[in-house]
Amino acid sequence: MKTIIEPFKIKSVEPIYMTTREQREEKLRHAGHNLFYIPARDVIIDLLTDSGTSAMSAAQWAGIMRGDESYAGSESFYRLEEVIKDLTGLTYIIPTHQGRAAERILFSACAKSNAVIPSNSHFDTTRANIEYSGAEAVDLVTEEGKVPSLVHPFKGNIDTKKLEKLIKDRGPERIPLCMLTVTNNSGGGQPVSMANIRETSDICRSHKIPLFLDACRFAENAYFIRKREKGYEGRSLKSIAQEMFSYTDGCTMSAKKDGLVNIGGFLGLNNREWAEKARNLLIMTEGFPTYGGLAGRDLEAIAQGLVEVLEEEYLRYRIRSVEYLGEGLQKQGIPIIQPPGGHAIYIDAKTSLPHIPQLQYPAQALLCELYTHAGIRGVEIGSVMFGKKDPQTGDETPHEMELVRLAIPRRVYTQSHIDYVIEAAGEVYTQKENIQGLRIVYEPPLLRHFTARFEPF
Ligand code: F0G
Repeated sequence: MKTIIEPFKIKSVEPIYMTTREQREEKLRHAGHNLFYIPARDVIIDLLTDSGTSAMSAAQWAGIMRGDESYAGSESFYRLEEVIKDLTGLTYIIPTHQGRAAERILFSACAKSNAVIPSNSHFDTTRANIEYSGAEAVDLVTEEGKVPSLVHPFKGNIDTKKLEKLIKDRGPERIPLCMLTVTNNSGGGQPVSMANIRETSDICRSHKIPLFLDACRFAENAYFIRKREKGYEGRSLKSIAQEMFSYTDGCTMSAKKDGLVNIGGFLGLNNREWAEKARNLLIMTEGFPTYGGLAGRDLEAIAQGLVEVLEEEYLRYRIRSVEYLGEGLQKQGIPIIQPPGGHAIYIDAKTSLPHIPQLQYPAQALLCELYTHAGIRGVEIGSVMFGKKDPQTGDETPHEMELVRLAIPRRVYTQSHIDYVIEAAGEVYTQKENIQGLRIVYEPPLLRHFTARFEPF
């Protein structure tokens, strides 16, 4: 059969509330043209994020009932620990309430002066946590990864030559760890090859630098390795994921993605000293090390989610459904990052809206039009999120890419929802010359995309 169907039936549904264009125009004005301020009820198809938005399975809900809510030594923790150890082979498993808590604790535990932390691309919270700890975050994604229209199987790879140069220039003693984000969210949800993970690991080990995965989409990455990398065709997805982790010394994980849950995360590591520091920090801000800011029931749901996410049928449907959206947009001439990523489609707004200068935020402007036209919500990954401001002059340097990310929640929307998005985007593109740029009228000092307010130019 050609059609790959959703490999599940729907047991429980949530209503979608319809709105008119006039209502949405008003809501957008009220929200300062920032879709983070729009109440979810006023969104028809919500592609803001694939994070924490998964539909859980019946087995996960059953786990919720089974959750052991003991403060210390919860059964649910041991169940989760076993699943994670089996998957990652890591020694110390520390639950956290979500990915960024694992990041904050890790970077505090390994902090040293003048530290530099390289990655293929750090996600925004990762970068913010590194910078907050006083260290420098450096992105070293391959050149292929920077060309949106280029089709290449592993555009998430780190440039290992640049990594070696960085280690040489800055000195290994200043690099407490190196990270690889799988898949590379900021670069289009593009996968990292096993060869690249292995080579990065070899380089890091030769300099005694621990390698960590930002593993929140590890399963989607494993699927791409099997599909695209020679030698992995016949392998089970779980064994590929295990191999990915085998080259590392630790990971941060937001379970809100490939953990298939609505909240949760963990830090995994082999270094005993760091684990001790991390646990002490955890007790201060998250909770006792066997629950880390989560309820016992959440730990159960993650344990089950980490098993389900590697199921063959699930990942085949998952990757295909994202690709289907990408194909639909492309057929209408909408430029997207090629090839489609694992969790989202990224529309290239810089190419789409050449009449809007980068510092008038073309991706944000396109997002606003998608919302007013059809109630679709996505997120900007461009100069609003990553533009750099000179603290002295206030001058802003735009980001390399101006992207609209349409992230697909896991197991939530059906094919007809996606058809609606394709149709709406096509309609927006027929009148894209009329889309106006935006200017920022309010912004906070850090992570401004969440709370900035805009006005049309
Ligand atoms: N790392 C990556 C690659 C991420 O995509 C995210 C979150 C995090 C870390 C932080 O995890 O949200 O659990 O604290 N990404 C979400 C997104 C927010 O929409 O892409 P968290």
